[in-house]
Amino acid sequence: MFGLLPGYLDLAAQQALVIEVLEALVAAPAYTPQVPGGRPMSVRMSNLGPLGWISDERGYRYEPLHPLTRKPWPPIPEALRALWSNLCGPVEADACLVNLYGEGARMGLHQDRDEADFSLPVLSVSLGDTAIFRLGGVRRSDPTRSVRLASGDVCVLRGEARLAFHGIDRIIPGSSTLLPGGGRMNLTMRRARPAQVLVPCATGS
Ligand code: SIN
Ligand code: MN
Repeated sequence: MFGLLPGYLDLAAQQALVIEVLEALVAAPAYTPQVPGGRPMSVRMSNLGPLGWISDERGYRYEPLHPLTRKPWPPIPEALRALWSNLCGPVEADACLVNLYGEGARMGLHQDRDEADFSLPVLSVSLGDTAIFRLGGVRRSDPTRSVRLASGDVCVLRGEARLAFHGIDRIIPGSSTLLPGGGRMNLTMRRARPAQVLVPCATGS
């Protein structure tokens, strides 16, 4: 199921989140990743949480350290952890990708499939300029539709939509004044590692 919650975050919550994330990015600066073929992406990225999703000439994967500073990613803000637990349940997210879109930035159609357990959802928060999001099915050739994602919108990909192809066609520059200098920030939360399972412990006899 693809769930869109339009305006789920009010303006005060959006502003607080932007401040918190921009402060975190001082220690974990957004950088321009390369796609595995070596070309630069048009989106700038950083991460929050124990693991961060990265792309470079070696491929896509999760890493515990920022590729440039070699330091751990900053923690996921409490407001985002609460959002995840309200909408996605008790298994905590361990990765939050921060995507920054300036004018002309886009993201090609792709699946999120570097995680251990596709039964856990992907949650995405849109802040700043409106994006034209493209959503398809589980095959690249499936028909797609276009969805506008405005500031404060939250979407959840779970069930059959968890592996749906998706991307960003473009952003609408100047459609929001939330971010200093304009543009769009997308926060994508995921559980990258397998969920921790509690194993009953035998108490000797
Ligand atoms: C992503 O798929 O990583 C980003 C989607 C978005 O920017 O809304
Ligand atoms: Mn994605």
